[in-house]
Amino acid sequence: MKVAPSILSADFAHLGAAIDGVRGEADWLHVDVMDGHFVPNLTIGPPVVAAIRKHCDAYLDCHLMMTNPGQYLEAFASAGANSVSVHVEVGGTADLIDKCRSLGLGVGLAVNPETPIEACEEFLGRIDVLLVMSVHPGFGGQKFMPVAVDKIAWAAGYAERNSLDLSIEVDGGIDVEQAALTSAAGANIFVAGSAIFGRPDPVAAAGAIRKSAELAGAGRERR
Ligand code: DX5
Ligand code: ZN
Repeated sequence: MKVAPSILSADFAHLGAAIDGVRGEADWLHVDVMDGHFVPNLTIGPPVVAAIRKHCDAYLDCHLMMTNPGQYLEAFASAGANSVSVHVEVGGTADLIDKCRSLGLGVGLAVNPETPIEACEEFLGRIDVLLVMSVHPGFGGQKFMPVAVDKIAWAAGYAERNSLDLSIEVDGGIDVEQAALTSAAGANIFVAGSAIFGRPDPVAAAGAIRKSAELAGAGRERR
């Protein structure tokens, strides 16, 4: 189980302090990159990744909500990203996976709520992480969409049947309750922005999400 606080909900004017405040419960830091085209919002890019890398050695999980991620993979790798997730909706997936591998990046494939999970099937044996979106990407603080649960269960079943070493990450509207629900379905990486950085005690909030996911995940393993 991994908890990945999404820095999108952190105070950008005090980003280093916000990161230091959750490190005790953050396995990964989730970095939401938006290009104003694939999604109707603009956020952060390689210079901010480089600044975080200078600040700490956290694992940086960069979620590229971009129409043309291929053009920026080198910049993210040299900025110090550990992994990137590209969206299946932008196409060219096989080439993007190869390019990430050649740059030594961990490889994730993200899928939007309205995209059938089968669109990812042919790539599941070649990626490290399937990133199942449980909100429409673009903004933090949205409500969890239950459609993600069936997708997670499908992917977990597929990975088990095919003996794949695949992590399943869920992103959007995750708090304690949704962490339990998605962990029981087979997710093992939990992104949360507002439910962590929007709370008075972010590290305790992240810890509560982890506990909830672990409890539900243990129940899943016993089934
Ligand atoms: C949405 C982003 C998410 C977002 C999650 O486009 O991909 O990572 O920051 O934020 P919360 O947890 O507030 O839904
Ligand atoms: Zn994200």
